[in-house]
Amino acid sequence: MATYQVALGCDHGGLEIKNAIRQALEADGVSFVDLGTYTADSVDYPVYAHKVCEAVQNGEATFGILCCGTGIGMSIAANKHKGIRAAVLSDPFSAEMTRRHNDANVLCLGGRVIDSERAVSLAKLFLSTPFDGGRHEKRIAMLERD
Ligand code: RB5
Repeated sequence: MATYQVALGCDHGGLEIKNAIRQALEADGVSFVDLGTYTADSVDYPVYAHKVCEAVQNGEATFGILCCGTGIGMSIAANKHKGIRAAVLSDPFSAEMTRRHNDANVLCLGGRVIDSERAVSLAKLFLSTPFDGGRHEKRIAMLERD
């Protein structure tokens, strides 16, 4: 059983892959909260980025997963939040390395870039990869600005 909690969020462009990830988390017994959006109606991605990042900041979730058309808007919005390290990616090497080296706590994916199968495999890899710590600790501390 996973020891982490996940907060999910998306806009209309990321709805399909967010739902696929949600299903996979459910099947794996991972604890999650789905903060929307829930329909294909057009919505503003920053709203959902902020909800998910607040859940990570207040400890309700260990990790956030944000899906929009490209993942880019979500990552820009997420990285405005103190303590949030959001990575937008579409390949497994980056999914692993952003956990190992950046201690990323929010994964951003693009529903118009990758399909649901890849989204699920990237999410599982991201969630299961630990931070390496060591020399990377100092660099993580250097990321924060007032
Ligand atoms: C919505 O059309 C689109 O702009 C959004 O999903 C995202 O790709 C923004 O980065």
